[in-house]
Amino acid sequence: MNDDNKWHRSHILGLADWQEFEYNILLSTASSFREVLSRATKKVPALQGQVITNLFFEPSTRTRSSFELAAKRLSADILNFSPSSSSLSKGETILDTAKTYLAMGTDIMVIRHQHSGVPHSIAAEMDRLATGVSILNAGDGQHEHPSQALLDLFTLCSLIDPENPKIELLYGKKIVIVGDILHSRVARSNIWSLSKAGVDLHLAGPATLLPELFSQFAPGKITLHRNIDQALENADYIMTLRLQKERMSEHLLPSPREYHQYYGITRQRLAHCKQGVKILHPGPVNRGVEISSDLMDDETYSLISDQVNNGVAIRMALLYLIGTLKG
Ligand code: NCD
Repeated sequence: MNDDNKWHRSHILGLADWQEFEYNILLSTASSFREVLSRATKKVPALQGQVITNLFFEPSTRTRSSFELAAKRLSADILNFSPSSSSLSKGETILDTAKTYLAMGTDIMVIRHQHSGVPHSIAAEMDRLATGVSILNAGDGQHEHPSQALLDLFTLCSLIDPENPKIELLYGKKIVIVGDILHSRVARSNIWSLSKAGVDLHLAGPATLLPELFSQFAPGKITLHRNIDQALENADYIMTLRLQKERMSEHLLPSPREYHQYYGITRQRLAHCKQGVKILHPGPVNRGVEISSDLMDDETYSLISDQVNNGVAIRMALLYLIGTLKG
């Protein structure tokens, strides 16, 4: 880590150790790319000739497509790997798969895996071999999903100042993260960025999906709630999360219907929040479970399409910042 406030990070593995100046470099770079994306020609030659490989060992719609589009808008060449149609099913190891793409001249690998730590192990191997390849974590198990939390941060800061989004704009805002926090890498990455921003951060959910230990992530900066209506009092922003059934090894909930009754975001519940409250959701959404279906489509409240849209600019910024370090 250097201290001259310049971008230095070649791997993006998680947000736990990010400094305020890094968030602000990323936000202002993303803001420039959002302007590029609003032009008639939505493309720049910044990473021409670089090879970016999407290694997604787990299903994904928006994150994979968003990275692919971001790479194309930067004029990089993009390779897409998916396990079902690969030699992984013939017994090849993950590391050998990564080395195959290394031999094809990959400069940046974007990795999603169902187990925590896989992007970190590949990054360590790439460094050990002095390859110069950068690794970008696109979601590892229940651990981190940095690009999602960064696009959430960009979306929130841009609401307050679209021309000049900066992390300090969120200082003192009340943000409530609701739902299946236990299984959520999105929540964990957001806890790092939002607590760094000085947000008044509240987490709400049933004890089975929100263990007490979450208050220890950022001691003194997080309040836990079992009662959603109390959590929502005077909230500026609500972040709802999907019930991640594929990561639940036991029966942690009575039923989706009952969950909606106790923790679902509905119009009625918004009455507890500040006027102008906005709702985020990383997607995919279980309609009518974590959020009522009509609310999800109501853009007076819902920031879901802004999040998807801003995701491309944030991923362009991440790829650009690590891609141009190599120059
Ligand atoms: C999230 C993920 O994969 O962690 N989705 C996403 O990347 N937009 C959240 C989820 O799966 O519920």
